[in-house]
Amino acid sequence: MAIEKNCTHIQFFRDAAPYIQAHKGKTFIIAISSRVIESSHFKQLINDIAILSTLGVKIVLVHGTRSQIDQQIQLQNIPSSMHKALRITTLEILDVSKNIVGRVRVNIENMLSYALNTPPIINSGLSIITGNFITAKPIGIHDGVDYQYTGQVRKIAKVQIEQQLDQHNIVLLSPLGLSPTGKAYNLHYEEVATKTANELSADKLIFILDTPDDLPRQLTLKEAKTHTKINPLIQRIDSALNSGVSRVHLIDAKNEGGILLELYTRDGSGTLISTEQYEEIKQASVSDIAGILELIRPLEEKGILIKRSREQLELEIDNFFVIKRDQKVIACAALYPIASSDVAELACLVVDDNYRGQQKGDVLLDFVENSVKQSAIKKLLVLTTQTTDWFQERGFIKGKVNDLPEAKKKLYNYQRNSQILLKSLEG
Ligand SMILES: CC(C)(COP(=O)(O)OP(=O)(O)OC[C@H]1O[C@@H](n2cnc3c(N)ncnc32)[C@H](O)[C@@H]1OP(=O)(O)O)[C@@H](O)C(=O)NCCC(=O)NCCS
Repeated sequence: MAIEKNCTHIQFFRDAAPYIQAHKGKTFIIAISSRVIESSHFKQLINDIAILSTLGVKIVLVHGTRSQIDQQIQLQNIPSSMHKALRITTLEILDVSKNIVGRVRVNIENMLSYALNTPPIINSGLSIITGNFITAKPIGIHDGVDYQYTGQVRKIAKVQIEQQLDQHNIVLLSPLGLSPTGKAYNLHYEEVATKTANELSADKLIFILDTPDDLPRQLTLKEAKTHTKINPLIQRIDSALNSGVSRVHLIDAKNEGGILLELYTRDGSGTLISTEQYEEIKQASVSDIAGILELIRPLEEKGILIKRSREQLELEIDNFFVIKRDQKVIACAALYPIASSDVAELACLVVDDNYRGQQKGDVLLDFVENSVKQSAIKKLLVLTTQTTDWFQERGFIKGKVNDLPEAKKKLYNYQRNSQILLKSLEG
């Protein structure tokens, strides 16, 4: 049992190692909703953020205060109104906001300082910095309605924030900003986070939310726009991804260790939104050779696939197709047209152990078949020792040596005694 547990830890560490390296020195903006701050998961989340910081990630933390302000307004019976889903901040509400921002900020500072100064992080020399990093301006009057002290971000003190991050400090930003004339304005934490991410050209913008975790793991920006649950954030996400932020993540605070799983495992735990596909299927290129070799070697050693040298693979790379997930090759297949025939041999179809049973094999087979649709190839041939049923279930029919094209007949290895399977691509 203990050995099994150790193996899981070791595997996690091995899987995480490339991500630890990749995220080191990168800038992540982490936006935490006001409801998450009130939840029982918040303390652990702060501890996990402290761990990220010790792993060399540059962190700007932005917190919300909406639900705390709502509660106080109700408690104190303060009149409050909205226009077009935006709160009108009166002077009275601004006072409440200032108090709440102060309280939440001190609370987070305390928790983070504690997390950074207790084992296992003690003495790391990291600290948390707050400051006047945001300049605000009023939203003004819209449709005749004066939003008073509801503001928007005018400027982010990029250089000053970057100086703090370079000194390994975590920068904490609140949804309150001052105008150059010293007036305070209530801001949306989502806007503060997004504008900061854009201004700093952050690598990631991460929203920690308390919404149910039933969104897909990966979405392109285009797909995200069709999800109603993402609707309230979509403008921010669009703005970030179009301003050079590489990826936006939505993480459910209820998932234990969700932020660590999302950032240090290939499959994550939240929803990753990017302009490009996280997983792609394509014709292979030279840069995929190492990944293909890593995938096929164990099967060659078991005798399931015929051994290919690196040199051979380099020569044949244009025949290969791959599925890549976050830059790693997780499936491959090769197609070799057979001279003087309308047949092409499909070989080396492999799906990484971790991704089997998810129709990746089907997707790859469809892709290969579509790639030859307009060509002279009318039949696919497979020679397999252990996967006959899988191919038969996908329309392949058993054949004999005599059914092979001449060029292939001569090369048929009777000792290996592979099953011959053929599939017509016509009709
Ligand atoms: C065969 C292979 C490519 C299928 O990939 P995959 O992405 O898991 O396939 P799919 O998700 O599309 O299909 C999974 C189904 O195939 C079945 N399957 C997997 N391997 C099989 C095999 N050798 N024989 C028969 N069925 C098989 C699974 O049990 C599953 O069936 P289910 O849906 O009824 O549970 C993958 O198992 C693999 O890489 N195998 C080792 C390499 C190999 O033998 N390649 C063929 C030589 S060219």
